[in-house]
Amino acid sequence: MNFKWLKRYMPRSLYGRAALILILPIVVIQLVVSVVFIQRLYEDVTRQMSQNMVLELGYLLDQVNQAPDLATAMQVIEPLQASLALQIVLPAATKGVERRGFADLSGRVITQTLRAGLEGVQAVDLLSQRKKIHLWMTTRHGSMQVGFDRLRVSARNPHQLLVLMLVTGVLMTVIAIIFLRNQLRPIKRLASASEAFGKGHIAQYSPRGATEVRAAGAAFLSMRARIERQIEQRTMMLSGVSHDLRTPLTRLKLGLSLMEPCSEVDDLKQDVADMQGLLDGFLDFAQGDAGEQPQEIDPVDLLRHAVENACRAGKDVAVSQVKGAPVKMMLRPVAISRALDNLIGNAVRYGTQARVGVVFNDRNLVISVEDNGPGIAKADREKALQPFSRLVPARNQNKGSGVGLGLSIALDIARTHGGNLRLGESETMGGLKADLILTR
Ligand SMILES: Nc1ncnc2c1ncn2[C@@H]1O[C@H](COP(=O)(O)OP(=O)(O)OP(=O)(O)O)[C@@H](O)[C@H]1O
Ligand SMILES: [Mg+2]
Repeated sequence: MNFKWLKRYMPRSLYGRAALILILPIVVIQLVVSVVFIQRLYEDVTRQMSQNMVLELGYLLDQVNQAPDLATAMQVIEPLQASLALQIVLPAATKGVERRGFADLSGRVITQTLRAGLEGVQAVDLLSQRKKIHLWMTTRHGSMQVGFDRLRVSARNPHQLLVLMLVTGVLMTVIAIIFLRNQLRPIKRLASASEAFGKGHIAQYSPRGATEVRAAGAAFLSMRARIERQIEQRTMMLSGVSHDLRTPLTRLKLGLSLMEPCSEVDDLKQDVADMQGLLDGFLDFAQGDAGEQPQEIDPVDLLRHAVENACRAGKDVAVSQVKGAPVKMMLRPVAISRALDNLIGNAVRYGTQARVGVVFNDRNLVISVEDNGPGIAKADREKALQPFSRLVPARNQNKGSGVGLGLSIALDIARTHGGNLRLGESETMGGLKADLILTR
């Protein structure tokens, strides 16, 4: 059987699902018990009690009908009134009216049983007097009215059971929800600690709750520690190497500047400049956005700033559109600027023009950088995002000294802001379209 359609109606949160698992059986059990059990039992008891009443009334009717005249009949009735606890009026003043409450389910059973067991029942009145039943029957001496307590034919207060069940049901549900909330809190804390770590924060977290949740929490902590250690090592190694190489490089530069200018020296100078560029790239990558605190800033300002910088450097870059209502967001400005510089830098390096657009959505902000270059084939996009990967070296010739870090730095920065970097094809310009997605 396919239960996929059911998924649409299921609550999405664990809390909702667990509550449903707890509450649904309680409600179903209560419904089944009240409808099947109570209804049947109550009807059966009422029927049996009414049948007993039929025997007594039948006896009374026989006695009255056997009396030769009204006076004897009244004499016969006299002792029976007391012994059978009946209020008898003979002859009755009226013929009586059949009356029953709309929701009086047991009343239906009483009327049915009395009519089936007794001859000459004219009317059964269950309504005009509370807790009393009046019955009119035909006798030899005219119509006879008999009154008796309703409790003699139906069970006392069946509603109490229903109310009790309902109250205990609600109480147990409330208790279950409170317990459930306590059980789910550690899972929520683990989820928010992992989410924070994904965005680059180290949130205070200690495993709590049920054994399984504790185990998951402990596993998360050791994983976080290992990742932190690795990031630290990577940063130290890259920055160490880059830093140490700077000194000999500066010496080389100095040495070259003191030499007689000739084409070979110029080539060497270019090589040294390229190496300097590579080292700057390494350092940027190694630094990441560590240490920078998020601030509330307008992303459009950052974007305009990055575009202006590129224009000042003589590049053809412009803001194409700002869609949606601009809002301030919690961002790390230096990191975001670096990501934008990398994307715009790529666009004008591999193409000649770059257009930057911003779209504010309900849940995120998308900054798109489009260019008119060759773009990146679908199959290569994932590879391009990896550190130190440069695609098709021939294509990149004479495009300056790329390290292959720009896109992976931008991706890292997007992730630490809870977002992503998506590569696609620009419809308007034909080149690459890089979407920097940042969650709000
Ligand atoms: N706008 C673009 N158009 C076409 N190809 C691109 C574009 N941007 C990046 N690429 C390809 O993706 C590869 C990786 O880009 P990335 O920015 O990571 O490195 P890079 O530009 O080579 O070096 P770096 O940015 O570190 O100086 C590039 O080598 C290039 O082949
Ligand atoms: Mg680049």
